[in-house]
Amino acid sequence: MRTLATLIFFVAAFRLSAQNQLILNADLGKHKINKHIYGHFAEHLGRCIYGGFYVGEDNTKIKHTNGVRNDVVDALKKLKIPNLRWPGGCFADTYHWKDGIGAKDKRPTIVNHWWGGVTEDNSFGTHNFLDMCELIGTEPYLSGNVGSGTVQEFIDWVQYTTFDGTSPMSDLRRQNGREKPWKVKYWGIGNEAWGCGGNMRPEYYADVYRQFTTFLSGWTNEDKIFRIASGASSSDYKWTEVLMRDIPHNMLEGVALHHYSVIDWNKKGPSTTFSEEEYFTTMKRATLMEELVQKHSNIMDKYDPEKKVALVVDEWGGWYDVEPGTNPGFLYQQNTMRDAMIAGVTLNVFHNHCDRVRMANLAQTINVLQAVILTNEEKMLLTPTYHVMEMFNVHQDATMIPLIVNSSDYVLNNEKLKAISGSASRDANGVIHISLVNIDSKKEQEITLDLRGGKFSSVTGEILSSPRLQDHNTFENPDKIKPATFKGISISGTTLKGKLPPFSVVVLELK
Ligand code: AHR
Repeated sequence: MRTLATLIFFVAAFRLSAQNQLILNADLGKHKINKHIYGHFAEHLGRCIYGGFYVGEDNTKIKHTNGVRNDVVDALKKLKIPNLRWPGGCFADTYHWKDGIGAKDKRPTIVNHWWGGVTEDNSFGTHNFLDMCELIGTEPYLSGNVGSGTVQEFIDWVQYTTFDGTSPMSDLRRQNGREKPWKVKYWGIGNEAWGCGGNMRPEYYADVYRQFTTFLSGWTNEDKIFRIASGASSSDYKWTEVLMRDIPHNMLEGVALHHYSVIDWNKKGPSTTFSEEEYFTTMKRATLMEELVQKHSNIMDKYDPEKKVALVVDEWGGWYDVEPGTNPGFLYQQNTMRDAMIAGVTLNVFHNHCDRVRMANLAQTINVLQAVILTNEEKMLLTPTYHVMEMFNVHQDATMIPLIVNSSDYVLNNEKLKAISGSASRDANGVIHISLVNIDSKKEQEITLDLRGGKFSSVTGEILSSPRLQDHNTFENPDKIKPATFKGISISGTTLKGKLPPFSVVVLELK
């Protein structure tokens, strides 16, 4: 009896002495962190395409290549973005791709019904987008129009972009100046079919999906086309269940999921002048991703135990009120350390579930929602989210190593969340990277990490932190927040010890 009491005493004392206990089994791990979870999203929405990516071929003030900003291309190359989703979003189910090819002065205009009611002149179309992807070195992910388009229109797009033989559509592509097809593997079969994509029920959408995909195969130059079904919103588990049940799995490579870290759809709150309560709620929404991914995966496991179908989180990120004085339909918001926290905890979830989550797209790349880049005429800045995604990109295509995290709590008004989140991987050269996020708004967190299954002699790291949660980069001070060398970590034998400042993101490298 005394022995048990002594043991309990020592365990309790050990827990008190070190706030956060982590264990890394460096010799374990079998699943790859697919680089495609680092994907991005570019919709015809606000200033994402026009002014963000594209400033027009005739622009003399901003350096560009065929109308695409050179500063943006350089920044996205450095970020190593693996794929880019286009042209929507809700816009995709209103987009008729033939409006965006051929002579620019002959292209019809349309009204961007979902986003600000502005007139879209179609000057940025299929050629612009696919050529731009080649320039950036990223793979295109095209979202086809299911909601207001036809099966024939969709087949024609696949044929136009990817068919190498002689056909009406590939001939039209050649007439428009592109001899060889592009490489387009990823195709979204509509977007948010439960809402802006047609307000369908899952049973009906599953049938529509089957109809569209029946006619899509056989045109692409890819060995295998990757077809992504329009997925659930957050915790709509029925949607995933019906799709997995009713769509034959030989017609399906991915099922999507959309989840935004929004406080309240009717009261989203400001992007920079938020309170600690608002921050806490945003973190609740962001860390919910763990439960969502787990539960959607459980449903998928029931129908697909071999995990052949990927869970594709093709819209995620923070969503706040637009910046005062900007068009409410343009979804332009600033990006603070709160967004760095969302990015860090979300990517950790994706890493830890990499056996099922094999693709994802942050919404959106430039000037819209949780952007990695903001532009103002000729000026451009990189947001805290950009820096997190760049620090974390060492995990792309590395082998995930399970990291056990016993975290202390971040407590506010009697509610609590885990303060620390983490993930780890081993790259092709055997180098181990560990990503840690402390979301606690006030407390520094001490960590003790037990290194098992390997010998390491050095640890280095990078950190993203700032004095205030609300801090952000501005066009006047674009480098206020940027990664720095992390000095708060040391290694002794098989133990790492460190201190993570409040609301900070750290990436460690072990050799
Ligand atoms: O990303 C903004 C919008 O959010 C997308 O167009 C839509 O798919 C989602 O509702």
